Amino acid sequence: MSRKKKNKKRGKRSRSKSRPRSASSRPPYVRLIWPALAVACALAMFFVFRGMRQERVLSTPTSTAHAAGPAQIAAGELLYARHCASCHGPELEGQPEWKKRLPDGRFPAPPHDQTGHTSHHSDEMLFRATKYGREPTARGWAMSGMPLFGETLTDSEIWAVIEFIKSRWPPEMRERQARLNR
Ligand code: HEC
Repeated sequence: MSRKKKNKKRGKRSRSKSRPRSASSRPPYVRLIWPALAVACALAMFFVFRGMRQERVLSTPTSTAHAAGPAQIAAGELLYARHCASCHGPELEGQPEWKKRLPDGRFPAPPHDQTGHTSHHSDEMLFRATKYGREPTARGWAMSGMPLFGETLTDSEIWAVIEFIKSRWPPEMRERQARLNR
C-alpha cells in the first residue's frame, strides 16, 4: 500500500473526530428514537386502559351477560377437569361426607351435581363465590379450602365452568335455579 493512501485514511479519521458533535451530525434514526418511544408509550397506554375498561364491564356480572352454547359448555368441561375436579370430583360428586366439618374446622368440597346445594344459588352468587369467595360478612371463604379463581381464570372462563356445571342438572332443577336469577 502506498504511503499516500495511508495518509489519506488517517486524515479522514482525525477530521471526523475533530468535528463538533451536533444533533444534525447524528444519523437520522437516532433523532427518531424519542418520537418512536412516545408513540409506543401512547399505544401501550391505550391498550392497558382499554383492557381495564373491559375488565370492569365483565366483572359486573349479570345473569344475561352470557348465553350458554355447546362451545361454552365444552370449554367449561375442560376447565372444570383442570381446575375443579380434584376437589369437587370428576363427576361433580364432591368429597365423601362433605356435610361433616373436618378436624381443622374446614368443610370438604361439596358436590356440584343434583345432590349438592350449588343449585340453591343464583348465577351471580356462583360467579362471585368462584372469583372472589364469599361476601366479607360471612365466614371466611379463603379459610374454607376453596381457592379463589380471580387470578387463575378469566371471567368468561368462570362463566363457562358454571354453565358446564348447570348443564349437568336435570331440567326441573335448572328451572328452579333459573328463577333465582330473575
Ligand atoms: C382445593 C379444593 C377445591 C378446588 C380445586 C375447588 N373447590 Fe370449590 N369448594 C371447595 C370447598 C372445600 C368448598 C366448600 C367451602 C365451604 O363450605 O366452606 C367449595 C365450595 C364451592 C362452591 C360453593 C358451593 C355451595 O353450594 O355453596 C362453589 C360454587 C365452588 N366451590 C366452585 C368451584 C369451582 C367452579 C371450581 C373450579 C374452578 C372449584 N370450586 C375448585 C374446594 C375446592
